[in-house]
Amino acid sequence: MVVWYIVFVTMTKDLKHLSYENKVILAPMVRVGTLPMRLLALEYGADVVYSEELIDWKLIKSVRRVNEVLETVDFIDKSDGTIVFRTCLKEKNKVVVQLGTCDSQRALKVAKLIENDVAGIDINMGCPKEFSLKGGMGAALLSQPDKAVEILSTLVDNVKIPITCKIRVFDDVDQTVNLSVRLASTGISAIAIHGRTKAERPMHPNRNYIINAVAKAIRIPVIANGGSREIEKYSDILKFKNECGSSSVMIARAAEGNCSIFCKNGLKDLETVILHYLKYAIDYDNSPSNTKYCVQNMLKELQETPRGKKFLECQTLEQICSIWGLGSYCRKKQLEYQSKGLLGRREITPDLFRSAPKKLKIDEENDIYQIKCAFIRVNFVEDIDLPKSKLITYCGKNKLKTPSYQVINEDKLFRAIVTVNGRKYGSSYWEKNKKFAEQGAALACCCALGLIDRQTLVNNGSILE
Ligand SMILES: Cc1cc2nc3c(=O)[nH]c(=O)nc-3n(C[C@H](O)[C@H](O)[C@H](O)COP(=O)(O)O)c2cc1C
Ligand SMILES: *[C@@H]1O[C@H](CO)[C@@H](O)[C@H](O)[C@H]1NC(C)=O
Ligand SMILES: *[C@@H]1O[C@H](CO)[C@@H](O)[C@H](O)[C@H]1NC(C)=O
Repeated sequence: MVVWYIVFVTMTKDLKHLSYENKVILAPMVRVGTLPMRLLALEYGADVVYSEELIDWKLIKSVRRVNEVLETVDFIDKSDGTIVFRTCLKEKNKVVVQLGTCDSQRALKVAKLIENDVAGIDINMGCPKEFSLKGGMGAALLSQPDKAVEILSTLVDNVKIPITCKIRVFDDVDQTVNLSVRLASTGISAIAIHGRTKAERPMHPNRNYIINAVAKAIRIPVIANGGSREIEKYSDILKFKNECGSSSVMIARAAEGNCSIFCKNGLKDLETVILHYLKYAIDYDNSPSNTKYCVQNMLKELQETPRGKKFLECQTLEQICSIWGLGSYCRKKQLEYQSKGLLGRREITPDLFRSAPKKLKIDEENDIYQIKCAFIRVNFVEDIDLPKSKLITYCGKNKLKTPSYQVINEDKLFRAIVTVNGRKYGSSYWEKNKKFAEQGAALACCCALGLIDRQTLVNNGSILE
């Protein structure tokens, strides 16, 4: 008896589950809720952070990789090498992954893939976008309670971390309470409620009274959501929570525009917030497009200023960071990561995962000078240093026809062949877009023509074999 008791106590102690009581939470937000924003929210005082919604089949298709250079765990899309989800130790006990799903078995498969790397899993039952509804996901589940219950029960019964769901309200209080009671009966750990109906938009008032009624009716923690319009400072968060009578609160738009809303002792100015954000973006090698999107949402109307316009023209992370004085820090970090052999997209090629790669539609008869080299943007400071620019200059000087490019596309990856002076050159490395592929081919050509020193390319990681 005693022995079993001890075993039981030790076991339950080991399962130190995330609690959803009395928490201030960063809400799931597509494109906004990536690693840098989540870490910033935690630094500023958020207790729990939700990922952006990840669609189940996208995660199923991904491979888990420990990224030793960044000290992250990455889930990488096998078809194009993009990062579907990146997480790190700092957030391990606080990050909840939100899934978009309409199928309990697929949801379970994904849950098993990520359960050792995250603190909780949430099912999106509130997204009103056509993409979700058509796929039977998001708010579509509100009108299919049996399906919703099946998904939650399957996860609760088979996954060792807490399961939650995020719903919208119905017009009718009782109908909302009834659904919540049913969902809660599956054994989920909490339920997040956005106080707007599927048809309502952000400008409609949030129905705090319905959240309140649910909170009174069920025993698991209710996480109130939808209050951002009235949230301008930290105390407004607590006011919203009180009005909803909920255990916890979840903030989306107020945090998207100003992540320092989580600071208990006052908001920080825009410059500071952006600076802190960019630091995380650099440290975790966030993509330039995602970084730009998040900063845009902070700048809002300031995008119209001269500085804002300059920002909008940026393409690389270094260019973005330069505007906030972090250009050289960014460059230093990128070079450091590169010298350590940053993994990720670069090790993914179609040949690696496909048993029978499709025949390339290139003229194999023609002699093609081919090397395996990657176009790494950070290696080229000025535009005139870019391989394509170098070739144009070379052709101009030698009175040759301007270089012509042929792009080969497979799935979401690209390679190119460049013709210069009647000869063809190419890189066998798959790039993620056309522009990069052309630069890659130009790089191979520059190397062959001696316009760029081969050893330099080996040293800076461009030549891959
Ligand atoms: C940019 C953006 C992206 C969002 N993406 C998601 C999402 O992926 N999953 C989700 O459940 N809700 C998503 N939402 C909805 C929010 O999580 C939240 O329910 C809604 O904005 C209301 O909360 P708020 O008043 O604090 O903004 C998103 C909202 C915004 C503004
Ligand atoms: C809610 O559930 C109660 C008790 O099961 C039932 O009497 C009532 O009709 C339901 N209300 C709605 C709107 O579904
Ligand atoms: C955050 O809010 C404060 C006060 O409203 C404001 O001064 C600051 O510029 C805001 N920061 C961002 C990033 O929007």
